Amino acid sequence: MLCASVRTVRRLSLLCVLSLTVATPNVLAQDQRNATGEYGVVVSRSVEASNVGAAILEQGGNAVDAAIATGFALAVTYPSAGNIGGGGFMLVHPSDGRDPAFVDYREKAPLASTEDMYIDGGSRKNHRWVGVPGTVAGFVLAHEQFGTLPWEDLVMPSVRLAEDGFVLKSLAQGLNRAVERSENDEFKRVYGKGGGTQLWQASDRLVLSDLGSTLRRIARWGNDGFYVGETADLLVTEMVRGDGYITQNDLSSYAAFIREPIRTTFRGNEIFSAPPPSSGGIALTIMLGILENFDLKSKGRWSPETMHLIIESMRRAYADRARYLGDSDFVEIPVHLTTKGYARELAASIDPRHATMSEKLGPRLTEVEESQETTHYSVIDRTGMAVSNTYTLEQGYGSGVVVTGAGFLLNNEMGDFNRNPGVTNRQGSIGTSANLIVAEKRMLSSMTPTIAVRDGKVVMVTGSPGGRTIINTVLNVTLNILEFEMSLRDAVDAPRLNMQWFPDRVGFQGFDDPVFSDLVKQLTVMGHRVTSGGGGDANSILVKDGLFIGAADNQNGGASAARR
Ligand code: DON
Repeated sequence: MLCASVRTVRRLSLLCVLSLTVATPNVLAQDQRNATGEYGVVVSRSVEASNVGAAILEQGGNAVDAAIATGFALAVTYPSAGNIGGGGFMLVHPSDGRDPAFVDYREKAPLASTEDMYIDGGSRKNHRWVGVPGTVAGFVLAHEQFGTLPWEDLVMPSVRLAEDGFVLKSLAQGLNRAVERSENDEFKRVYGKGGGTQLWQASDRLVLSDLGSTLRRIARWGNDGFYVGETADLLVTEMVRGDGYITQNDLSSYAAFIREPIRTTFRGNEIFSAPPPSSGGIALTIMLGILENFDLKSKGRWSPETMHLIIESMRRAYADRARYLGDSDFVEIPVHLTTKGYARELAASIDPRHATMSEKLGPRLTEVEESQETTHYSVIDRTGMAVSNTYTLEQGYGSGVVVTGAGFLLNNEMGDFNRNPGVTNRQGSIGTSANLIVAEKRMLSSMTPTIAVRDGKVVMVTGSPGGRTIINTVLNVTLNILEFEMSLRDAVDAPRLNMQWFPDRVGFQGFDDPVFSDLVKQLTVMGHRVTSGGGGDANSILVKDGLFIGAADNQNGGASAARR
């Protein structure tokens, strides 16, 4: 067993990957967080959800089938971010010669929305912040385009999970905290033990019967099980109860779209990632484009030179993100942003010895904070078809509003818009017009589901939660794999750095180990303001020598390999 050096490992407890046990001849290695096999792998934040996806692969489903089933399962087993009441993005790389496709099922602003609807701010834990949910429509569209198994077969495993219940394990604590903070009676009734009068224990089983019934309607009728009929009636009634904006018209007019992914190259690999309304793919393209101009490998992964260049590339990409990006159906995105020539110009603007003060790239903005909720999962099937899916309720448990009688949580994604023209909001949006609120517009996202391909074959699938830090997490993992050729486990576990233009500081995750103190000192001398912090949950897949290797990031995540 190979133990990674301390320099490449983020958490000391993970210095050595656990000894892996051989399960069957076709699953070469499997423990909870690592799985290697030749028949496909699913990696998500929840072991139960990954197992649902792997079972679909074993039934002959393809990667999209498994991704849909995993997504519905996460809506049951990981309620803080897994959802049917939110939205997200699914990047698909087929293995049959078809072009990669990006399923945009981002929430949209309700028809009643106006630019200044949130000018007075206030708590975001209520009905008023809910965007029109997109997840069900996105999964239906993905299934229509790419699915092979019957739709019902993809939803029913989650119906069973919800109705039979599942053992809470680490979720118990998080739920207890959320229930204690919640002011929503239905949330307490559905997610609290004894309606919130008792505390969940890790060994308790959570049964979600209303959610099970809603999923049954979705299993039977697809979009019509959610956007019209009983589920829609319950949702609209919930909106009326809490002064929310969403009407039946909003639900009936919601559509998921297939978009062209952002496409770039890095060191001979093709990189596919998220186009607007996400900022992820464009920002990632700018950063990789800048870094391609430097031989980072010979400088070393943890050298001050490499770290400085990564930080400066992030600073420049995030400045452009804030300035230019929004829903491209509503705003013009400058085409030069993703060109190699522009990246070269930005690379040339980096002073090799000194940090560029962020004010030099634009006006100073308010400092922002980030939360971690959202979830990413990666799937590959035996043919090499891959799916990279990131979806979210925005904050943990979204708006905290459970649709009474329907058992699912609603997002508070409207907070991702620039809410106060001219003012920075908590999520780091700024008051530029590209991301101001317009009825039916999609709010700018940072979700960055990403797939790397070499010689036509998928080599890496990754993505992460973490608000604006998402794009940086994806960059860290991508560089670890494609530039520094780390093993997947090391690439996911390695320390991460995070710089977002503003706040003008560098967040390090995992650099508290004394072996990094010199590095931090040298970066400080260059003018970087170094703090600890960051995050991410990069549930990723690497393809090597014909094998599919999955690595879950979080201790509670799960990688599951198909056995046949
Ligand atoms: O779409 C986005 O970028 C955010 N709504 C994602 C939210 C997230 O990762 C958790 N942090 N706030």
